[in-house]
Amino acid sequence: MGGTLKIPLSEANMEHVSVLKNDVEKLLELKKGEIVVDATLGLGGHAMMLLKNVGKTGKLIAFEQDERNLKEAKKRIKEFAKEVKNVFYISDNFRYLKKRITEIGIEKIDAILFDLGLSSPHIDDSNRGFSFLNDGPLDMRFDERNPLTAEIVVNEWKEEDLVKIFYEYGEEKYARKIAREICSHRKAEKFTSTLQLANFIEVTVCGGIGKRWKEKIHPATRVFQALRIAVNDELKALSDALDQAAEMLNIGGRIAVISYHSLEDRIVKQFFKELQQPQVTMEESIYRNHGDPIFEPITRKPIVPTDEEIEQNRRSRSAKLRVYKKVRELPQS
Ligand SMILES: C[S@@+](CC[C@H](N)C(=O)[O-])C[C@H]1O[C@@H](n2cnc3c(N)ncnc32)[C@H](O)[C@@H]1O
Repeated sequence: MGGTLKIPLSEANMEHVSVLKNDVEKLLELKKGEIVVDATLGLGGHAMMLLKNVGKTGKLIAFEQDERNLKEAKKRIKEFAKEVKNVFYISDNFRYLKKRITEIGIEKIDAILFDLGLSSPHIDDSNRGFSFLNDGPLDMRFDERNPLTAEIVVNEWKEEDLVKIFYEYGEEKYARKIAREICSHRKAEKFTSTLQLANFIEVTVCGGIGKRWKEKIHPATRVFQALRIAVNDELKALSDALDQAAEMLNIGGRIAVISYHSLEDRIVKQFFKELQQPQVTMEESIYRNHGDPIFEPITRKPIVPTDEEIEQNRRSRSAKLRVYKKVRELPQS
């Protein structure tokens, strides 16, 4: 199954509809001349809007760890703003935000956007192994320069580590059973393809060949989410980047995060909850329970796509946008 010939997605077929673009634009309140970071460039849809808002005197710093998306976005942005010279492209993981931005001589930023997770070309190209709608290799890397693939995780990781990721990153209630069966099966046959793994999980969860899953969500969905998060170390990268973004923002600067599953959203919510009610210093502790807020929420509740947006772009359906404004410097550590 793993050897099936695959046709790569052509550049002409690369499409991604930017999610909640108008809301991001409205809530970031960018001004001409500001420095804005797009931490997840994708195909550049949000970036072009950000660039338009900061104008010729502003700067856009764009991170993208997928080489193909970066190349395509560069082409589109060049086309969109022919004479722009104020865009810095960084072909790296946003977890190196501070290091990579200071390397280009910039210390502080005015706004940053994270539009997390996958872009449509990742799902549409079965060669990337993110989806099991069509067969493809068990890959799932955003950054193909990284050595760790889903195939390595599934075939080589210890059973208890698989249980842990299926449970923690997939919130999969059959984590133990699926991990046990995978580890037993792989002794005889390696897992190499997405459909092979998805079908195996379906049989494992449904209790036998020929019995099929009847619910809306395929039983492999959560395991695929878990593998993707593990392969790309997504949650740790997000926590690391939030720390650095909070530090690098100017006072009055804003951060917008669009997340697509509850694990990401929880990290964002918890991170800013602590900065809205930071721990007290020794002096403050005599009078109060917490220090002055460092960030204030611009969105009390997350913004979600309208029915109309979901109808036009099904992939936006799980999106949640949260925006916060920095109101005070972080205490020196
Ligand atoms: C949802 S898409 C962004 C789409 C983009 N906002 C647009 O309008 O076209 C997320 C993108 O972020 C990239 N990405 C995900 N995690 C990343 C990380 N830790 N560092 C850098 N890029 C990342 C993915 O490769 C993907 O292209």
